[in-house]
Amino acid sequence: MSLPDDIAEAVAGAAARLGPFAREIRWYPEVTSTSDLAATWAEHGAAEGAVVIADAQSAGRGRYGRSWASPPGAGLYLSTVLKPAAAMLPLLTIAAGVAVAEGIERAAGLRTSLKWPNDVLVGDRKLAGLLAEVVAANTAILGIGINVMPGSYPADVAARATSLEAELGRAIDRGLLFVEVLASFASHYEGLKGVPAGALLDSWRRRAAATLGREVTWMVAGRQLRGVAENIDDRGALLVRTPAGIERIISGEVTWVRA
Ligand code: BTN
Repeated sequence: MSLPDDIAEAVAGAAARLGPFAREIRWYPEVTSTSDLAATWAEHGAAEGAVVIADAQSAGRGRYGRSWASPPGAGLYLSTVLKPAAAMLPLLTIAAGVAVAEGIERAAGLRTSLKWPNDVLVGDRKLAGLLAEVVAANTAILGIGINVMPGSYPADVAARATSLEAELGRAIDRGLLFVEVLASFASHYEGLKGVPAGALLDSWRRRAAATLGREVTWMVAGRQLRGVAENIDDRGALLVRTPAGIERIISGEVTWVRA
């Protein structure tokens, strides 16, 4: 299906900054999950940078199989096929978080903050989420969901979420948002190919200043542990100070305790 005009025009205007992410973009009015379609496309030979974008998702997914509410026209729902070197994998979500924050700032002028591992927030409310999934050897799918309009979100989501238009009180140019997020990701992804990723990590840390320093809890073998999230290390792991010393958390659920 051909791209909607707003997206096609924005892509044409930014193609030089989008690199591989401008080559093949498939748009659908409704899909189950853009990440599922991108994974299937990758199985059938999609090249790095292939993008799936949809107006609605009937089975949008977040981390741990949680659902990601994706009402029609209310958000930006996109997934892209990546072929990262193994060393790049731990930093994909970090790069995507910075890219989404920068893209939102450039397209909409809104400053957001980041919360490890995959949340983009305004205050304590979730504005966007990222989902990086390894689907085959050398292939990962990065899914990005950004709430653009208040939309008809389920009550539990509405209580914890916000949208660009709710924050700004004006309409947002969806095409511009799409290309600015992807252009920023293209640049950080390219940067990950050369180590070290110091500038990217510092950029993530600056944007996470409001969440680092807060208490987190997590479960180990049925026991709840607790500590203060202090930083991320150069592999994107969360460093948590506990009475027993620094714990390094690479995956698994952490619960952020509200201040
Ligand atoms: C999270 O915060 O838990 C991650 C949410 C990721 C949502 C996006 S929307 C586009 C892509 N398709 C999906 O099914 N999920 C991701």
